[in-house]
Amino acid sequence: MPNAISGFSKLSKSEKIEWLLDTYFSDKAAARKLVTQYWSSDKKLQKLHDEFIENTITNYYLPLGVAPNFLINDKLFTIPMAIEESSVVAAASKAAKFWMDRGGFKTKVISTEKIGQVHFTYNGDFDKLKGYFKVVKPKLIASTSDITKNMERRGGGILDIELKDLSKDLDNYYQLHATFETLDAMGANFINSCLEQFAKTFKNEAKTTLEGDLDIVMSILSNYVPNCLVKAEVSCPIIELKSKDIVNPQLFAEKFKQAINIAEIEPYRAVTHNKGIMNGIDAVVLATGNDFRAVEAGVHAFASRNGKYSSLTHCSVNNDIFKFWIEIPLALGTVGGLTSLHPLVKFSLEMLEKPSAQDLMQVVAVAGLAQNFAAVKSLTTTGIQEGHMKMHLMNILNQFEATSEEKTKLIEYFKTNTVTHNAVVEAIENLRD
Ligand code: MEV
Repeated sequence: MPNAISGFSKLSKSEKIEWLLDTYFSDKAAARKLVTQYWSSDKKLQKLHDEFIENTITNYYLPLGVAPNFLINDKLFTIPMAIEESSVVAAASKAAKFWMDRGGFKTKVISTEKIGQVHFTYNGDFDKLKGYFKVVKPKLIASTSDITKNMERRGGGILDIELKDLSKDLDNYYQLHATFETLDAMGANFINSCLEQFAKTFKNEAKTTLEGDLDIVMSILSNYVPNCLVKAEVSCPIIELKSKDIVNPQLFAEKFKQAINIAEIEPYRAVTHNKGIMNGIDAVVLATGNDFRAVEAGVHAFASRNGKYSSLTHCSVNNDIFKFWIEIPLALGTVGGLTSLHPLVKFSLEMLEKPSAQDLMQVVAVAGLAQNFAAVKSLTTTGIQEGHMKMHLMNILNQFEATSEEKTKLIEYFKTNTVTHNAVVEAIENLRD
């Protein structure tokens, strides 16, 4: 077991790397080469990345792919996707093309409200607390005027603050539950600054005007944003679903709907179903510099809002019309945070024609819906292994540095033979012998 180290954060980047090499690596030269090989030769760019987080030693690359031909509300988009999983971008592109020929995606932002809470304890009479809150509420709002003035000038700010009594669930526990409009910013900093100021004012004013002990536990935004909702939908006459791999559109529509209904009622399937949706959502969220952990947490809480984890997408087949839609909470930003710092995030946002946060919510929802359409279409027709195995084959061929001539021969060979790691290795060896 290595010894603990103190003062690690104060070491220089090279000293940190040397410590790691000394402590964990037998082949230090190879490990050093690997770590430094991922540094950018552009010193300014490297410094920028070094300073995003703490204790940076190198860069961890993810591919940035693009999925073109997304027709959203009659406008074409090319969607940037940062993701390591093969087939996701291909599936998105395929779904985009499929729906482009059938009217495209229709989207709508339903609401844009964000939430933050001051959690506190109070051991006095609730009616007195209610009276105090009524008096102090305007002071809470006034005390944040320095923080809110710019946001208010642009049309956002604090929407409301409510007092919530949760003392039945947890002794002496109450909340200030605040709602915000943060426009094009994701708003985490804005909301947290307002909340911390509310907490200070709330505690201070209580000292002279409220009987009983009031203690602030914490002040923090909520990543659960069920009132920051966006909807994306595709629909077409069932007959128009007919395509190269949909020979019987009526049967396809019914089976597809059945697959969605299964995910609506069966949590084991719903988790995988929603994971496929998040393949699309996270990839765009990441490419556009947004916080995918926040989005993940909020989306899955939303998927369980009725007490049982369920599908984020829904489907109907009525009067010969196939309809497929998603409704999800997405707290996104297109200003602030990484959006103006990371060069590839700026690139991605420019590719999306500098969207507002509401525009981006719609694009992200579409990416999730498209991904789910592609996955469920494959699952209910050919199965997903066919496509995956092609990718698997290519990955193994690349791993063995197959030449393009070898690749052509082996791809042909595996059209009629089953792809397994061993079978591919054997085929490469045979070919090379
Ligand atoms: C794989 O990353 C995603 C799928 O499993 C999604 C699904 O099953 O719907 C294909």
